[in-house]
Amino acid sequence: MNRFKDKSIIVTGAASGIGRATAVRFAAEGGKVVCADKAASVHETVEAITAEGGIAIGVEMDAGSEADVKALVERAVAEHGGLDIAFANAGITGGLQGGLFDSDAENWAEVLRVNLIGPFLMIKYAAPRIEECGGGAIICTASVAGIRSGAGPSSYSASKAGVINLVKTAAQQMTGSGVRINAVCPGLIETGMTSRVFEYAREAGKMDKVGQLNPLKRAGQPEELAGAVCFLASDDASYVNGQAIAVDGGLSSSHPVTRQLPKQAAV
Ligand SMILES: NC(=O)c1ccc[n+]([C@@H]2O[C@H](COP(=O)([O-])OP(=O)(O)OC[C@H]3O[C@@H](n4cnc5c(N)ncnc54)[C@H](O)[C@@H]3O)[C@@H](O)[C@H]2O)c1
Repeated sequence: MNRFKDKSIIVTGAASGIGRATAVRFAAEGGKVVCADKAASVHETVEAITAEGGIAIGVEMDAGSEADVKALVERAVAEHGGLDIAFANAGITGGLQGGLFDSDAENWAEVLRVNLIGPFLMIKYAAPRIEECGGGAIICTASVAGIRSGAGPSSYSASKAGVINLVKTAAQQMTGSGVRINAVCPGLIETGMTSRVFEYAREAGKMDKVGQLNPLKRAGQPEELAGAVCFLASDDASYVNGQAIAVDGGLSSSHPVTRQLPKQAAV
């Protein structure tokens, strides 16, 4: 497939996990990718892309800084002659302050800054540039944690709920522009963010217990998110706008009820 041939694309959080897999996929399908991250290892993503003959540059930046996001968008426009697609994906969990009453305002401010203000800034600066190029797509990474409680720390969950609303509001405010704005809501995906869960499960011989709450009965891989993001970024999703799509193996499709036995087993 060559769905992104000559498209100018920004991916934040591109040093690792979902962002890295998506940057690689965009480039493999012909896109010219600006890989952005606060981590210097973003240049390893660029090396992986260029080694396969793809086009990418790396930018070290802070996705929650207005000056950095503005500069990132202008860099992509200058480097690749415009902007067609932006994936606002960088995110943090905010550490171990999971409980509402254990966390503090400082923790909440930092999590909201990166996870929610970051996507807001990307939309603010990228959307007008994408419109100038005749339209395109912005995708933001939310989470199943933003759909309901129980899948992350309180500040993280609130930040992701904010992203779900942000894409709906932004899609409305870009009415008539040709810029589609959607979110993905990953479930449990094996990345840098969740590596401790997987390391522990492997060490304890409990990998068969990971991801058992969803009907596919497994965790997801970053490439499975990349597939969904690239769909939303492509013309295949030309009528999908203002949506937050769960990519979670079905985790969020049910309330927590006891599973029904399969029909054949019930007799
Ligand atoms: N892994 C999961 O199970 C899961 C589930 C739901 C949502 N998500 C979301 O997916 C997105 C990607 O995370 P991941 O799972 O690939 O984790 P990851 O830790 O592998 O990747 C996140 C990347 O974001 C970068 N980053 C963090 N803060 C930044 C900042 N201020 N500026 C620039 N870059 C920054 C990190 O350096 C890292 O490279 C995040 O928004 C995360 O909240 C992940």
